[in-house]
Amino acid sequence: MSDHLSRNSHVATVAAFGQQHTSVSMYSATTVVRAPESVVRGRWNPAVDGFVGEDLLLNHRRSGRDLGMQLGVSRFYGHDAVLSSAHSDLQERLDGAIALPAHRRLRSGLTATVAARRSGRQFSGKPASVEELATVLWHAQGVSGSLPVPTAQDGDAAVALRNAPSGGGLYPVRLAVLAQHVRGMAPGAYEYQPHSHTLFPYQTVRPVELSRQLWTADVELDKVAFALVYVYDLYVNSQKYGDSGLVFALIEVGGISQNVHLARTSLGMIGCDQGGYDKQTLEKTLGCDGTSRHVVHLTLLGHGEA
Ligand SMILES: Cc1cc2nc3c(=O)[nH]c(=O)nc-3n(C[C@H](O)[C@H](O)[C@H](O)COP(=O)(O)O)c2cc1C
Repeated sequence: MSDHLSRNSHVATVAAFGQQHTSVSMYSATTVVRAPESVVRGRWNPAVDGFVGEDLLLNHRRSGRDLGMQLGVSRFYGHDAVLSSAHSDLQERLDGAIALPAHRRLRSGLTATVAARRSGRQFSGKPASVEELATVLWHAQGVSGSLPVPTAQDGDAAVALRNAPSGGGLYPVRLAVLAQHVRGMAPGAYEYQPHSHTLFPYQTVRPVELSRQLWTADVELDKVAFALVYVYDLYVNSQKYGDSGLVFALIEVGGISQNVHLARTSLGMIGCDQGGYDKQTLEKTLGCDGTSRHVVHLTLLGHGEA
């Protein structure tokens, strides 16, 4: 194996790319000793001709009786934790935010839309409208309900519920928009703020063109209208769920992304998920530290050839 790697250096590059998510761990910021969960299979070590960490992982199981897990969950029923969830709308920045138009009410049948959803890669360069962008974002993450959580301090406290499910209603996944061709909107990077249904511009000094953020052989990136980038803030849910937080977040990304694809299918738009983005480059563009805030997925959207 070591010989093979030294003769075929591209295999090592592909292997490193495949492991770019292995550092998503709640421990990476706080300790140099990595918990087994963050190691996953570990990196290939030519010296031992095996994956470092794999043996440890195979011999390690988290128990449901783990004290840290129990403390984390019980702590979340405390007043302060309930109130911070109930008032998460206060975390949105409204000064300088761009108001989005209301979402379009989509009328295509669910069965027809689910069956018609296909990944599309032949983007035409036709711009999307702001209403189309707003409709995709609202179906992905928009606020559509409310769960009362009255406390002694605030009898009216309620958690705003969104269109995709989230463990504990904590919503640790945010959506960033990399806009290239959206009519009436300056190209740039924005964060979707679901409570106010607004976009807040990122103060990035880096160019946001998609051709600088990812590489693909199948898509002409300059013809994509906009990309959605899924950003996971692991402290938002791992404070409650410990190591399960990452698993929950990835499940939530799947729910949000399915809503994105069904909404864009109903709007007559094409789109394609991309696993081949450069995690570090995107994180620099979006100001994520890659330690507590991670890019975990990316979807391209736009219009196809008529
Ligand atoms: C997590 C994920 C990553 C993907 N990455 C890519 C990609 O990098 N390039 C690509 O062309 N398609 C990508 N796809 C799309 C799949 O190739 C596509 O969903 C699959 O071929 C099934 O086709 P369908 O979506 O048209 O039903 C990805 C899909 C998912 C869910």
